[in-house]
Order: sequence, then structure tokens, then C-alpha cells
Amino acid sequence: MKGTSLWMLALYVFVSFITVSNSAEVVANGDHSGFISVDCGTRRDYMDEVTGIWYQTDESFIESGTSHELAQNINSYIYAPTINRQLMTVRSFPEGQRNCYTLKPKQEKQNQKNKYLMRAIFAYGNYDSKNQPPEFDLYLGVNFWTTVLISRNASSYQIYPYEIIMEHDGTKEMVQVCLVNKGQGTPFINTLELRPLNNSLYPVPLPLVFDSSRIDLGSGLTAYTWTRYKDDVYDRLWSNYDYSNWHLVQTSAEVKTEDTVYELPSEVLRTASQPLNQSIIFTWNGSGYDISAQYYLFLHFAEIEKLPRGHKRIISVTFDDENSFSQELTLEYLKPVTLSSNKFIKGYINFTIKAATNSDAPPILNAFELYKFLPQPNFPTAAQDVNAIMEIKHIYGVSKISWQGDPCVPSNFAWDGLNCSSGSNIRITSLNLTSSKLAGQITPSFASLEKLEFLDLSSNELTGPLPEFLATLPNLKFINVTGNKLTGSIPKALRENANLRLSTANNPDLCQASPCGKPIKFVIPLIASLSALVIVIVLVSLVIWRLRKKRVLSPESRKSEGLKRKNQAFSYSEVLRITNNFETAIGEGRFGKVYLGTLKDGAQVAVKLLSLSSSQGYKEFESEAQLLTVTHHRNLVSLVGFCDSNNIKALIYEYMDLGDLGQLLSENNTNVLKWKERLQVAVDAAKGLEYLHNGCKTPIVHRNLKPSNILLNKSMVAKIADFGLSRAFANERDSNISTQPVGTSTYIDPEFKKFGRLNKKSDVYSFGMILLQLITGHLPIKREPGNYIFDWARSKIESGDIQGIVDPRLEGEFHDTSTWKAVEIAMSCIFPKSEERPDISSVLHKLSECLDMLMDHAKSSNDIPRNSINHTRATVSMTTLSAR
Ligand SMILES: *[C@@H]1O[C@H](CO)[C@@H](O)[C@H](O)[C@H]1NC(C)=O
Ligand SMILES: *[C@@H]1O[C@H](CO)[C@@H](O)[C@H](O)[C@H]1NC(C)=O
Ligand SMILES: *[C@@H]1O[C@H](CO)[C@@H](O)[C@H](O)[C@H]1NC(C)=O
Ligand SMILES: *[C@@H]1O[C@H](CO)[C@@H](O)[C@H](O)[C@H]1NC(C)=O
Ligand SMILES: *[C@@H]1O[C@H](CO)[C@@H](O)[C@H](O)[C@H]1NC(C)=O
Ligand SMILES: *[C@@H]1O[C@H](CO)[C@@H](O)[C@H](O)[C@H]1NC(C)=O
Ligand SMILES: *[C@@H]1O[C@H](CO)[C@@H](O)[C@H](O)[C@H]1NC(C)=O
Ligand SMILES: *[C@@H]1O[C@H](CO)[C@@H](O)[C@H](O)[C@H]1NC(C)=O
Repeated sequence: MKGTSLWMLALYVFVSFITVSNSAEVVANGDHSGFISVDCGTRRDYMDEVTGIWYQTDESFIESGTSHELAQNINSYIYAPTINRQLMTVRSFPEGQRNCYTLKPKQEKQNQKNKYLMRAIFAYGNYDSKNQPPEFDLYLGVNFWTTVLISRNASSYQIYPYEIIMEHDGTKEMVQVCLVNKGQGTPFINTLELRPLNNSLYPVPLPLVFDSSRIDLGSGLTAYTWTRYKDDVYDRLWSNYDYSNWHLVQTSAEVKTEDTVYELPSEVLRTASQPLNQSIIFTWNGSGYDISAQYYLFLHFAEIEKLPRGHKRIISVTFDDENSFSQELTLEYLKPVTLSSNKFIKGYINFTIKAATNSDAPPILNAFELYKFLPQPNFPTAAQDVNAIMEIKHIYGVSKISWQGDPCVPSNFAWDGLNCSSGSNIRITSLNLTSSKLAGQITPSFASLEKLEFLDLSSNELTGPLPEFLATLPNLKFINVTGNKLTGSIPKALRENANLRLSTANNPDLCQASPCGKPIKFVIPLIASLSALVIVIVLVSLVIWRLRKKRVLSPESRKSEGLKRKNQAFSYSEVLRITNNFETAIGEGRFGKVYLGTLKDGAQVAVKLLSLSSSQGYKEFESEAQLLTVTHHRNLVSLVGFCDSNNIKALIYEYMDLGDLGQLLSENNTNVLKWKERLQVAVDAAKGLEYLHNGCKTPIVHRNLKPSNILLNKSMVAKIADFGLSRAFANERDSNISTQPVGTSTYIDPEFKKFGRLNKKSDVYSFGMILLQLITGHLPIKREPGNYIFDWARSKIESGDIQGIVDPRLEGEFHDTSTWKAVEIAMSCIFPKSEERPDISSVLHKLSECLDMLMDHAKSSNDIPRNSINHTRATVSMTTLSAR
């Protein structure tokens, strides 16, 4: 026995050692080296077992396309272990002419160009079962990179890696790789990889493209054995090649490469080729040679033979390039040397490697790289316009397939609805967003499109005022906002601009005459102070009533609860009767439809039928339902009973008259929630969540918190619904979430994508998003790579632009300090890293303070003008935010 447990212990220590070193590796690859590795079309992130590289799904790098698996396992066709796993899936682009991946490389040094290696890999593998390999173009940003031509004659499992060595200033723009459909088959891609390089590598004009010619000589291998990371710290892909009749020269000694500039893998340098004729004469202008291009050659040498004492290998290299000169070098044992050519411009490549006359040994060559310079004729659209139009795209969630890549360049792929100027400073001159389902206010981002002449926003759902900032655009000649829901009056600066043609018809609430809106300003403070008074009275009476109720009713209500508990199981026929044969459907949830029902005593209930497809979850249905019926809290929708018959499974909840928060905040709801009501809803929801997390015997993680799961009863008390189900349906739910692109679900913790787990902090994240929605009225922004909402809100906060955040429907009738505080709380909840988010208890505490602040303010609202932004706003909030 003792022996066994000792073994177990040893094993345990060993296992935990492995785990630790593995996780350290993940950090190293994911963070420090700056690698971005995207396995296109795959469903989850993983660490490649052969290379130790962490691969991500492509969901956060692309907005379009569909994913596929290769028809057959590629390993049975090609043995290329360092590359195969990423080839198993592809993303293909049946729609749109140009589809673009967007990568944000880590910027080592600010405001300077850094060098990167970008690699795209293609293996058709007959993924679409059509046996028709396509031909399409690849662009790096706005410039042509290469044509991807998958040979129809070769095996469909042939692998096509394309590489480019480029410079990029991450502070100015993002890196985009675009696949362009040429009408010769559907573009697809298997893998996209970005590697930071040391800036002293490849000191020639960039970008350089790689023409399948980064060659490791002398390996003697015949199969695909790409040498790459970790042998190559920069993850260059070295293919092996051997010239027939050349000698192979090999050593098992380690070639020290760390302190050389190029840091070639020892693996590559420890083999070399030696020509039989004492000289290597290389000329090339044959097939594939581009007569108009400039080529650059890098030759890598290292002495790997132990020569007799006093013997030296001296090599003479002549590049017949633009300068045409010879160079001699003496190789030292196991010390790498790299020689590079100037550009080859004579219409062919010609170089000679000979043994110098005083050499004791014939020449060798260990490896070489041949690159072609890729001219960059196109300039991208001015950064200011790109940023502005990207903001517009995200704020309104514009989903047009052409809205990818650079907005204007190349002009044949320009975004639909845009026209641009030409030349080297490309600006957006006209924007036509008619009938594009735009909702919300007209964003100030429009004013950043400085050269705009034509703006058509007609036939949308735009609300709020027609902003005065449009008048600051010097060239604007035409605005059409016909057919929206704008309110307020037309600013004088727009009305009186003679050069501007303004169409504002069909905005019922937009005041066309000049003296309008004045009386309203006068009335608001009066209404406000009156309502404040009413609120105070209502609150005081509420408190008194609650106190009395507690004293008088408490023991009895507990007793009746106990009685109720035994009657929670309903039969099928009872459910039929309650719902009057499922007469009135009042909603549809994740697990099934919801019907209105009436109990014998006349109380209304909501009956949630669980869809029969969720078979696995049923096993624990009853015990879970039992658990839920004893989970009572004022801010949790209470379960009145359940039905667990063979025909149906149903949950019977108290009926919530006012419906869910999603509806209440929607644009269609005319009865706009006031700021105080919103804050109260937030406090209620936080209380409910706090109870689930910290008040129950077994903490309950909601996992699916969103506005439609927050219901309000007649008295405007908000309660959380749908909690607990997630446990009963854990398996099903998880698979549901992971198959849908996480990017579309605004309320789901971004860490879920990384770690596949939801915890209390995920609920806090969802709560933060809901709070932000309560403040802003809508979340029109799709989640983007790098947690876009967070950045958006923070940028607004940092610019002090609270009006740019707060729901325009509050029409300025919100209280500034409490709003700032609420924004701050919301922001802390949605920190991308879960450990930085607060516990829900602390959120609740702060929100309650916030509500108190608002109440105090309501009391004294006679002194402070309500309708203005108070510039003494919490500067403290800002410092806490930026300190994190
Ligand atoms: C494929 O092979 C056929 C016949 O062998 C030849 O005519 C054709 O040019 C080849 N196509 C390509 C793309 O190599
Ligand atoms: C890049 O290479 C140079 C020369 O080998 C070296 O001095 C420098 O430290 C390297 N930089 C980085 C960031 O590794
Ligand atoms: C090698 O040298 C022989 C004679 O010295 C010559 O005939 C032959 O063409 C050379 N081969 C190459 C590949 O240069
Ligand atoms: C290759 O270069 C040689 C020498 O300049 C020239 O005579 C020949 O026509 C070229 N061949 C091709 C295919 O361009
Ligand atoms: C290649 O370069 C060598 C040495 O500079 C020269 O003798 C030879 O003529 C060149 N070959 C061609 C095809 O230009
Ligand atoms: C604006 O776009 C719509 C369709 O998207 C089109 O019908 C209309 O002609 C465009 N307007 C202008 C001025 O190009
Ligand atoms: C863009 O230019 C084209 C051609 O000049 C024109 O037909 C189109 O209406 C313009 N679109 C907008 C939105 O101005
Ligand atoms: C403005 O847009 C509406 C709806 O798209 C259109 O009917 C109207 O002709 C446009 N007005 C002008 C002046 O182009």
C-alpha cells in the first residue's frame, strides 16, 4: 500500500510539473513573442502539439465567410507534421468580392515601423467536394500581394504557403489580409500567421515576398519537413531541397546562432551542400521569373566540417547584381555568416560561389533565401476617415458585405455607398446610407469625415436631434435625412447655409419652424421638482408600508410559503386548464415557448414549456425544479410550480406585467424609462444576482444574463428570470454557446471564448453590459476584436463626453454625478480580464450609493439646474479607471 501511494505521489509531482511548464509556454507564445496565429474555420483555440504554438479561431478576425472541414484527413496524404493540424479546416467566402482579415500586431516601439513576417497557408483538400480548386487574389491592405493558384493537376492536398516580410506602424493602422474573388472559384484560407521580426533583419526595401525559396540545403530528406518554430525563433518556414549530384555535408554539432542577426535554426545550418565542380554558378531567368521585379538574395554559410589543422575554407562570392562585385570570406567552425545581395535588376539572377584561390576546401552553401520586392502603388484612405467610417460602421452595426478592408482603395472594391477622392490623400467625399437600418442618434463621427460633400441618411430609424456639428463640414452640399425619427429643431447654422441642400421631410417630431422647443425648457424643472416631491412621498410611504408588512405578516407568509411548497407539482391536465389549452403565447425563451396562465385563485402566471429536444437536461429536471422553488428572493422571478409529466415539462412562474427590460428599452417602446427608474432596475437586478452568487447555499451562476431575462412587475420591481436552468441544462447550453459565434452575443464574457468557462465574474460582465445599456439606451455595437464597447465607452469618458453616452431619449433629464458613477461601475464590470472585475456585492453597494445620491439630489433639485452637465463631475472616476 505504502509503495503505491509513494508512486502516486511521484506521478502527481511529475504531472503537476508538466502542467506548470505547459501553461508557462502558453503565456510565452500568446503574449511575449507577439505571435498571432489564426487557424481559419476551426471551432476552438488550441495549442499545436508539434510546434507548441497557440492557435486561435478566426472569429474575432473576420466578419464573413463559412467554415468547413477538409473532406479527408490530410495526414493520410501529406506528412508535414509541423503544419498539418492547421490545414484540417478552412474558411471560405462564397459572398462578397473582397473579404478581409484584420490583425492588430503588438507594437513593440511606438510610432515607428516594425518588421513582421505574415504567412497565409492554403490547402484545398477538396473541402467543398467539388474537386475544383479555385484561383483568387490575395491583398495585403490596399495592395496586391499574390495570386493563389491551386493547381488543378496536382493533388488537391498540396500545401501552398505564401509569405510576405513587411513593415508596419501599428499606431497608425491595422494589418489587413484580403481574399479577392476573381470569378474563378470561391476563395478560401486555412491559416494566417503574423510573426514580429527583429528590425535589423532583411535590411532592404520592404515588403518582400517569398517565392517558395527559403531553402535548407543538404538535409538529404525527400518529404515535406518544414523546419519552423521552435527551431526558428521567428517561425520562418524552411523547406529542404537538394541538388542532384551535390555532396551532402552534415554535422551533429550545434551551430551557435543566438548572437547572430539572422538567428537561423541550428537544424538548418548543420547541413550543407557542396558542388562537385568546386564552384556554384547560379543563373535564373526561367519560368516564374518576373523580369520587371527586383530580387534580393540572402546566402547563409557556416563551417560544419572539422578541417585539418591549419586548413581554411575560403569562399569567393560574386553577385552579378546592380553593383556586381566579389567578396571573400573565411568560414569559421560552427559560426554562421550571412551575405546579402543588392537588388538584381538586370533581368536575370546570376551569382557565383567559388573556392578562393588560397582555399583548402571546396565551397559549401548551407541555406539561402530569395525574395522579390513587391511595389506598393496604392495609398490607403486617410486614417482619419478610416477611423470615422469604422466608428460609424460599429455604432450602427452596418452589415454590408462590401464594408471590409480599406473603405476606398482599391477603387474597384470601395465600400457600397461611398465615393472618394483620388490621388495620394484619399478622402471620403460622399456617403449614401439610405435605408440601412441605422438607429440611434446621428453620431459625431460623421463630423470627422472632413471632406464630405454628400450625406444621405434617409429612410432610417435615426432619433435625437439633427446635430449642429454637421454645419462644421466645409464642403458639405447635400444632407438628406428624410424619413427618420429626428426630434428637436433644425439648427440655425444648417438652416441658414445657402450652399447646403437640406431634406428633412417625414420626421414627424422634427420641428421645422424656427421658434420651437423653448417652452419645454421652462417646464422641465417644474415637472422635475414636482416629480421629485412625489418620489419622496411614495418612498416614505413605501418604507412605512414595508416595515409594517414585515412586522405583521412575516411569520404567516413564511408558513404559507411552506404550505405552497408541497403543492408545486402540477399535472398535465392542470397545466392545460391553467393556460386554457395554451391559448396565449406571451414569449419565446431559449428553452421553449411561454404561455399566459391563470391559477384557481385568479393569480396570473407565466408557463414556460421546455422544448422536447433538450433530452439530456431532463434527467435532473425535477431536482433542479425543486431547488428553484426554494430559491426565493424579491428580485428573482419566483417559481410557482412545475410540471414533470411524460407529455410536457413546464415551469410555472409568477407573471410579470411589464414584460422584460429588453422590450422596455427598445426603440419601439414609447414609455421611456426615466433615469431613476433605470437605476432602480439596476439595483434590483444586482440584488437578485447578489443573492444567486452569495446568498444561496450552492452559489448559482446565471450564465445567460441579458435584458430579456430581467422582468418587471406592475410595481416596477425588477426580477431576474431564467436562473438555475443553466445547471440542469449545462451540457446542452454549453454546446449551444460554443457553436454560435461568440462575437454576436453582446452579453457574454469575452473570456468565455478563451477559456470556455462561465463563472460569477461572467455574470458580472453581463450585468455591466446591461447597466451600460440602461445608461446608453441601446447597444448598437457588435463586439469586436479587443472588446470594442469597452474602448468606445472609455474613449467617450476620457473625452468627458457623457452626452455621447447617455440615452438621447432621456433628453438630458438625467442626473450627472449619479450617471458618471453608474458609468464607472459599468466600466469596472466589463473589464476584459475577469479578475479585474468587482464582486457583485461591491457592485450592488456602489449602485445603492448611486441611487441614494440621486435621491438626495432629487430632494435638493430646486437649487441645482437639472438640465445641464455639471462639469465638477467625478474626476475621481477617471483616475480610478485609468489606474486599472
Ligand atoms: C494540366 O494537365 C493538362 C494535361 O496533362 C495540361 O494540358 C494542362 O496545361 C495542365 N494544367 C495546369 C494548370 O498545369
Ligand atoms: C535585434 O538584433 C540586434 C542585432 O543582433 C540586437 O542587438 C538586438 O538586441 C535585437 N533586438 C531585439 C529586440 O531582439
Ligand atoms: C563540371 O566540370 C566539368 C569539367 O570540369 C564540366 O564538363 C561540367 O559541365 C561541370 N558541371 C557543372 C554542373 O558545372
Ligand atoms: C534569359 O537571359 C538570357 C541572357 O540575358 C537571355 O538571352 C534569355 O532570352 C533570357 N530568357 C528568358 C526566358 O527571359
Ligand atoms: C554571371 O556572372 C558571371 C560573373 O560575374 C559572368 O561571368 C557571367 O557571364 C554571368 N552570366 C550571365 C548569364 O550573365
Ligand atoms: C444611394 O443608394 C441607393 C441604394 O443603396 C441608390 O438607390 C441611390 O441611387 C443612391 N443614391 C445616390 C445619389 O447615389
Ligand atoms: C458615386 O459616383 C458615381 C459615379 O460618379 C455616381 O453614380 C454615384 O451616384 C455616386 N454615389 C454617391 C453616393 O455619391
Ligand atoms: C431624400 O431621400 C428620400 C428617400 O430616400 C428620397 O425620396 C428623396 O428624393 C431624397 N431627396 C433628395 C432631394 O434627393
